[in-house]
Amino acid sequence: MKHLLKLLDWSSEEIMTVLNLADQLKYEQKHGISKKYLDGKSLGMIFEKASTRTRVSFEVGMFQLGGTALFLSSDKTQIGRGEPIEDTARVLSRYLDGIMIRTFEQDKVETLANTGSIPIINGLTDFCHPCQVLADLMTIREYKGKLEGLKMCFIGDGNNMMNSLIVGALKTGMSISVACPEGYEPAKEVLDFAVEYGDKFEVLRDPAAAAKNADVVITDVWASMGQEQEAKLRAEAFEGYQINDDVMANANEDAMVLHCLPAHREEEITAKVFENHADEIFEEAENRLHAQKAVMVYLMGDVRNED
Ligand code: CP
Ligand code: NVA
Repeated sequence: MKHLLKLLDWSSEEIMTVLNLADQLKYEQKHGISKKYLDGKSLGMIFEKASTRTRVSFEVGMFQLGGTALFLSSDKTQIGRGEPIEDTARVLSRYLDGIMIRTFEQDKVETLANTGSIPIINGLTDFCHPCQVLADLMTIREYKGKLEGLKMCFIGDGNNMMNSLIVGALKTGMSISVACPEGYEPAKEVLDFAVEYGDKFEVLRDPAAAAKNADVVITDVWASMGQEQEAKLRAEAFEGYQINDDVMANANEDAMVLHCLPAHREEEITAKVFENHADEIFEEAENRLHAQKAVMVYLMGDVRNED
């Protein structure tokens, strides 16, 4: 059974297959071609954290594909009252054709996959955000016409976004430089993976150095969901880790800027840079819909998923 638990599990070929499918689904939607690839199928969407984009894009995407999506908030289901995830997986596998889950621990997503019998899609954990990064790669390829040989730069926290961007960039032939303060590096599992790619990956302290000759510059919030208590401490640690005109002056002249959103203007990105690149950033948000439709068709479509 194939899942999307983290991009580390997917080959470069699988990532490219889904990106190609996402382009096709976007084309079909823009040209009024309606194909019900998931006719009669049901997706459960478990949310233990807040969401605007992930929730709406999965729900609308499933509708457009001919299926239905159920919003399962943890505090309104027995999950929030402590029912084991293993039992939840075995029950929901008997009703649904797939589950998207947004939660804290990566282990919970892996357990859901190991104990259930339907495809599981990671809609964000503390460790990674694979759906977002598929949409990011789709957006970069849309604007630049390719991924191979481009340079990505990420400035900020070694969080779920940085982890997934490192894996997604390297697996699609890009190089990536990240800049983060000491103590906020990406996860060890990601560093161990990236070491194989030699000088295509580097962790720096200086945002300007990381942005040098970049084709795409990306950032994310300084305090992720669940870290609200530490927001003040983090704001001090991340001072200077901002996408602004000075940092952008180091990137290629036609460099893109992406942000998974929500954005905090004048923290990780200035309002000016954000607005200069708003077209790219909101195309990126739209592409969540197309990329996730591709993920669902790939995992839940009629070609039986039983590897
Ligand atoms: N970027 C992203 O995942 O947005 P939401 O938190 O709104 O789903
Ligand atoms: N790093 C952020 C991403 C939000 C989409 C968080 O986890 O809150």
